[in-house]
Amino acid sequence: MKSMGEIKAGHESACAEFVKARDYRRAAEEAARAAACGFALAERTGGAVAGAHTRDAEGWLEMAYELRGRQSAVGSRQSAVGSLGTGGRASPRAGGQSAVGQSEEGGAAEGDEWLVAETPEVSFDDIAGMAEAKEALFDMIVHPMREPEKARALKLKPGGGVLLYGPPGTGKTMFGKAIAREIDAPFFYASGAQLRSKWHGESEQRLSRLIRAARSRPVAVLFLDEVDGLLPRRTGGSSVVDNRIVTQFLADVGGFRDSENILLLLGATNKPWEIDEAVFRTGRFDEKIHIGLPDAAARGGLLKMHLAGLPLDAGLEMETWVARLEGYTGSDIVGIIHDAKRAALRRSVRTGGDPLIEAGDLEQALKTIPASVTESMLAQYERFRRQRFG
Ligand SMILES: Nc1ncnc2c1ncn2[C@@H]1O[C@H](COP(=O)(O)OP(=O)(O)O)[C@@H](O)[C@H]1O
Ligand SMILES: [Mg+2]
Repeated sequence: MKSMGEIKAGHESACAEFVKARDYRRAAEEAARAAACGFALAERTGGAVAGAHTRDAEGWLEMAYELRGRQSAVGSRQSAVGSLGTGGRASPRAGGQSAVGQSEEGGAAEGDEWLVAETPEVSFDDIAGMAEAKEALFDMIVHPMREPEKARALKLKPGGGVLLYGPPGTGKTMFGKAIAREIDAPFFYASGAQLRSKWHGESEQRLSRLIRAARSRPVAVLFLDEVDGLLPRRTGGSSVVDNRIVTQFLADVGGFRDSENILLLLGATNKPWEIDEAVFRTGRFDEKIHIGLPDAAARGGLLKMHLAGLPLDAGLEMETWVARLEGYTGSDIVGIIHDAKRAALRRSVRTGGDPLIEAGDLEQALKTIPASVTESMLAQYERFRRQRFG
C-alpha cells in the first residue's frame, strides 16, 4: 500500500503534468488533493513536523487557488472561486487559504463554484454572545481536535451534526463560519434556497456531491444554510424533487459518524417547523441549539464592536443603549449603528465640523429601523422547541 507521502507526491507530479498540458482545471484539482494529503500528514504528526506539513499543505491550497483563477482567465465556462457564504459578500481570498472543491467525476460541471471550500474570515472575535452554542461546539469539535489524546482516552470522536435555529439576523451563518475558522477547516457551504432555485431538478445530485466533497477531506465543516428550503417537510402533496432530496440527504449523511474523516455538519434555519421530521428522527442533527435575540451582554458586545474607536458624543451612554436595543437582532443593531454613522457624516459635511456620533443619530435610526422579530415570532420558536425538542 502506498504511504500518504507517496500519494501526495503522485498528486504533486500529476499537478505539474496538467500545468504543462495547460489543463488548469485538473491541475487545480491535483493541487487541492496534494493539500488534503498534506493536512492528513499534519494530523498524524505533532509539533514542528505537523507545522511544516500544514504550511506545505497551505502552499498547495494557494496553488490550487491560483490555478483555478488561471483556468477562468483562459475562458473556461466555470466561474472562479466565489459566491460562498454571504451571497458573494465574503471576499474569496480573505481567509488566505482557499481551496478548490474536488469533483469525483473528474468533470467539474458548470457552477461547481459552490463546491469550493475556503476557511472563512469570520472569527469568534466578531461574534457577540451565543455562549451556549459556542460551548456546545467547542465540546463537540474544537476541544477533541485540539486535545486528540484526551478525546481518545474518553473515546470521544470529534464531529457530528448540529442544527442552529432561531430568528433571522441573529448570527447563525456567521457562527458557522467562525467555527470553521476556529478549527482551520475548509468550509463547504450550500444554501437551501440557492440550491433549490438555481439547480432545480438536479439539486439532490448537487447536494450529494457537496457532501461527498466535504467527506473527502480529513476535516471539514459542511454548512447547510436555510435547511428548511433544502429538506422541506414531505407531505402527501410534496413534489417528487422534495422527496428525492430528503431521501438522498438521509442516505448521504447516514454513516458520517463511522467515517475516518472528521465532519462537522452544521445546519441553520429560521423555519425549523418546515424541515422534514425524518431529519430529526434519524439523528442527523443530534444537537439542536436555539439562537435567540442577543441578551444585554451580547448587545453591549455588539455596540462595543461597532463603535469602539469612533468619535462619540459624550451624551451617548452605552448602558442606556444596551437597554434601548432590547428586542432587536444582531443584524438590526448593526444596521442601526450604520445608519447613525451615516447621519453623523452627513451632519459634519453640512456644518463643516468634525464627525461625531450623537445619541440623536441612534434615536433617529431606531425610528426608521423597526425590530425585525416580533413577539409572536419568538413565541413560535418557543412553541417549536417545547413540542419537538422539549
Ligand atoms: N451575535 C452577533 N454578533 C455579531 N454580529 C452579529 C450577530 N448577530 C448578527 N450579527 C450581524 O448580522 C449579520 C447577519 O447575521 P447572519 O449570521 O447572517 O444571521 P442569520 O444567519 O442568523 O440570519 C452579520 O453579518 C452580523 O453583522
Ligand atoms: Mg443566515
